[in-house]
Amino acid sequence: MPDSVNSRKVVITARTLADLRRQVAGLRVPGKTKAAKVGFVPTMGALHDGHLQLVKHAKSLCDKVVVSIFVNPLQFAPTEDLDRYPRQEGKDVAMLQDVGCDLVYLPAPDVLYPEGFVSRIEMDGPAKGLESDFRPQFFSGVATVVSKLFNQVRPDIAVFGEKDYQQLAVIRAMVRDFDMDIDVVGYPTVREADGLALSSRNAYLNAAERAIAPKLFEALQRVRDAARTNEDIGKAIEQAKRDLVDSGFDRIDYLAVRDADTLGDLTADSRIGRILVAAWLGKTRLIDNISA
Ligand code: PAJ
Repeated sequence: MPDSVNSRKVVITARTLADLRRQVAGLRVPGKTKAAKVGFVPTMGALHDGHLQLVKHAKSLCDKVVVSIFVNPLQFAPTEDLDRYPRQEGKDVAMLQDVGCDLVYLPAPDVLYPEGFVSRIEMDGPAKGLESDFRPQFFSGVATVVSKLFNQVRPDIAVFGEKDYQQLAVIRAMVRDFDMDIDVVGYPTVREADGLALSSRNAYLNAAERAIAPKLFEALQRVRDAARTNEDIGKAIEQAKRDLVDSGFDRIDYLAVRDADTLGDLTADSRIGRILVAAWLGKTRLIDNISA
């Protein structure tokens, strides 16, 4: 067998909290240099290149990187896709090994939520509006699981994708408000060649829906162009919504321009805007966003 195969490091996996803590302690070295840092990328699995880019970015900032794979029931409503959410653990672990991940955490639901678990994190500010208007349980579920994962892994740095821009803003606010000693790092959205943002849920799209899906990114770009040329932004948004429906989208949950930092209304004091969209293509809900 060639050396390169022999010497390839096998990624460690942990399934219980005790195991995770033991393995993370083994990865840690004292100090505050890059070599001493532990990076963390929480995911729900069904990994694609977007997730892998986050891991590579974490690896460029920290010597050791932990990735969690956990389909978090708390962030799904009873009517949502918890049961059919794609699961491919073996393939995911192999992909993570290829990008140099050091430890994969694969907790079962009762490791995160044992019998008697009663706590929730509820947030205002960036957690209000947009996604919350359509998925009221979502950010409480995300903030609760991410705070638990942060306490379990205790990373120095955590990397999140801008693909879920509101989620990134919510995590930043939570870390600030609870004085968590973690650097939250955002990473730009990874897209297909035709502009569609990579997502585990793209696997739900049939061929006809997949052909329509890039129109979502095109709609965002048209609103951005209108904002940059000082056109009436309200009109541009209404036109973009009509175009999406004409091209085959079934329903637009929202298409809006917000303050990129607070996700509140854009005001004269806003540093920069963010354009965010959520829309349904058949039974699949897609989200995307770009800088205004
Ligand atoms: P998941 O959807 O698996 O995403 C995990 C991370 O990958 C998130 O930070 C997300 O923003 C990022 N990501 C997904 N698609 C991306 C893309 N095309 N480009 C860049 N980054 C991308 O988000 C979650 O899981 C969950 O809510 C979680 C934070 C794990 C809590 O359960």
